[in-house]
Amino acid sequence: MLIHALEQQLRSLHPVFLYTVPTHQNPSGATLPQGRRRRLVELSRENRFLIVADEVYHLLSYGEQAPPPLAAFIREGTILSLGSFSKILAPGLRLGWVQGSPRLLRPLAECGLLDSGGGLNPFVSALVLSAIQTGMLDAHLQQLRGEYGRRLQAMSEAIRDSLGGMVEFSQPGGGFFFWLRLTDGRDSATLLNAARKHRTSFVPGSAFSAEGGLRDRLRLSFSYHGPEELKAGVQRLAASLS
Ligand SMILES: Cc1ncc(COP(=O)(O)O)c(C=O)c1O
Repeated sequence: MLIHALEQQLRSLHPVFLYTVPTHQNPSGATLPQGRRRRLVELSRENRFLIVADEVYHLLSYGEQAPPPLAAFIREGTILSLGSFSKILAPGLRLGWVQGSPRLLRPLAECGLLDSGGGLNPFVSALVLSAIQTGMLDAHLQQLRGEYGRRLQAMSEAIRDSLGGMVEFSQPGGGFFFWLRLTDGRDSATLLNAARKHRTSFVPGSAFSAEGGLRDRLRLSFSYHGPEELKAGVQRLAASLS
């Protein structure tokens, strides 16, 4: 996020809340530096808007540590930080968490659904609590960071080897995604059928734009497949693009 652009927008807009993925963003992989995080929090106080920080990739850094999460600023009273066990345990659990100041969390904690239902998803919540308390989740996270780091590296090398010259990208420091720009400016959505014929796929950039932009971009994910399959997938993509 470009803070100076946000400041400019705030001269005419008065948002109730701002949604952001500050660490290893989906799809760009970008991480907001610490100085900009501080300024964003200051702006939320000065302009009285809430920051909804979707921090689901925060625990998934594979090299250098990311700056502290926006959850570290919850005392400022303008932040709701969201986390999810989908990315660090299993998506099928449908369980996450929210961090915020007591004032912001009270209406959630006291809402009738939670109060009379005994919480959201109580059985799965109890299982996940055990995974946290026994240290299983920490050990699992450590293993995940190692494995995802190897997958990231494998995809990065495959892109350089097979797609060099055809795409530009910044190496992500974590998360699940590579965000590529086609150097010849082609619309990636028009290449999807060819990619599928080569038994590979991607998400076209336009899927991430509310205005039909980002057409020369495409998102690749390295979370599901092992290094060898990733390499084969990128080679097939290269064959479909040329
Ligand atoms: C930024 C972001 N937030 C939330 C989610 C979804 O999380 P959940 O599975 O907990 O609904 C995703 C999944 O792709 C994501 O990329």
